[in-house]
Amino acid sequence: MSDKLENIILVGFMGAGKSSISKEISRILRFPYIDTDEIIEEAEGCSISELFQEKGEPYFRDLEHKLLQELLSQKKEKTIISTGGGMPVREENRALIRQLGFVVWLKTSEEKTLERVSANDSRPLLTEDDLEEKIHRMLKEREPIYEEVAQFEIETSDLSISEIASGIIDCASYYFSS
Ligand code: S3P
Repeated sequence: MSDKLENIILVGFMGAGKSSISKEISRILRFPYIDTDEIIEEAEGCSISELFQEKGEPYFRDLEHKLLQELLSQKKEKTIISTGGGMPVREENRALIRQLGFVVWLKTSEEKTLERVSANDSRPLLTEDDLEEKIHRMLKEREPIYEEVAQFEIETSDLSISEIASGIIDCASYYFSS
């Protein structure tokens, strides 16, 4: 019997499709799905943007860290976990994310990211006029971080949601059975 926690955790930049793909994996496997941003919004009673504005980013990052600790202490199992794009940035979070289960990095090109996030103004870190430059800079900083935390990476730009979900399920099954 494996001692790994049997969860699938999706990490990746804003607009990578973490929420939609988590929902699809959850639908196929019939495992529940959780979204760390949604849990924080619910607990705080406001949106992530309001939280950034009223309490600041470090406060939000502390909440992300506490949430990871809680998920581990609950020994959460058979759950698909969609994470906020900045969650793995803190080194201590990367260790916690790894303990939670099989970690997948959803990789997306700069062009696709720009296309997807431009249509949505709910992200406090992407409100600048020079969005293209900001995305370029943040991706450069974060790609090595996602690469470090993930056991598996999948380039999502040219794949459908169901292709990505089934690719992840195949790899996760192999991972949990080995
Ligand atoms: C963030 C990503 C967001 C949200 C917050 C900060 C980030 O989540 O947690 O706005 O630092 O990349 P999504 O990746 O789900 O957009």
